[in-house]
Amino acid sequence: MTPNQELVQAREELLARCTGFHRVECDFGAAKGKFLSESAVLNPTVFFVGIEGLSERVRRSNKKINRLGITNAALWRGWGKESLDALIPDAFLDALHVSFPDPWPKRRHWFRRLVNPEFLTIAAKKLKARDDGYAGGVLRLMTDHPGYFSAMKQHLDCERGWEEVPWEDDLERPVTEFETIFLAKGEPIGRVAVRRISPTL
Ligand SMILES: C[S@@+](CC[C@H](N)C(=O)[O-])C[C@H]1O[C@@H](n2cnc3c(N)ncnc32)[C@H](O)[C@@H]1O
Repeated sequence: MTPNQELVQAREELLARCTGFHRVECDFGAAKGKFLSESAVLNPTVFFVGIEGLSERVRRSNKKINRLGITNAALWRGWGKESLDALIPDAFLDALHVSFPDPWPKRRHWFRRLVNPEFLTIAAKKLKARDDGYAGGVLRLMTDHPGYFSAMKQHLDCERGWEEVPWEDDLERPVTEFETIFLAKGEPIGRVAVRRISPTL
């Protein structure tokens, strides 16, 4: 069984874990789970799903989450946008966080960047669409790399069905591991939050 086939099976586990939570958010590239576990403690009525490519990070993060008695967060191992598609049911997420994805600064490596039109199409499918009484799920992107930030914004401009919303929202948001590093260095961070307004892109 491929890792992403395993994730399709893990969906059942995810659905069971999310039962009773009115809001679900996903952190893609969750690393050591700092943002995920701290978000869970700060926002106990929200379930936080982590997807991370390195299995040792997933194992250690889940161990820490269990040791701390946190019941509203868990990580799964998954690689690339396909893992988001495999694990997360459609129209499921209230927010999707992608913080400091690998920037792949050299032009010949840009094709490896996570945030591209194909990723945005999957993200749109996984976020809850605008509906009567619901404003639509939000994609929150952060990077320290100015070129990647421009590319992200260009991709968003080219795709229909997104509208920019204020970065600050109603939830308490801890800083991520990489955000801590760049804030300490005083380096600028690009942040953009966009709401999904269209059921199809
Ligand atoms: C630069 S770190 C940022 C970590 C965290 N989001 C933060 O803000 O501190 C990128 C993380 O994403 C993971 N990652 C990179 N590419 C990935 C991919 N294609 N699929 C899943 N995880 C990925 C890496 O293993 C790493 O933990």
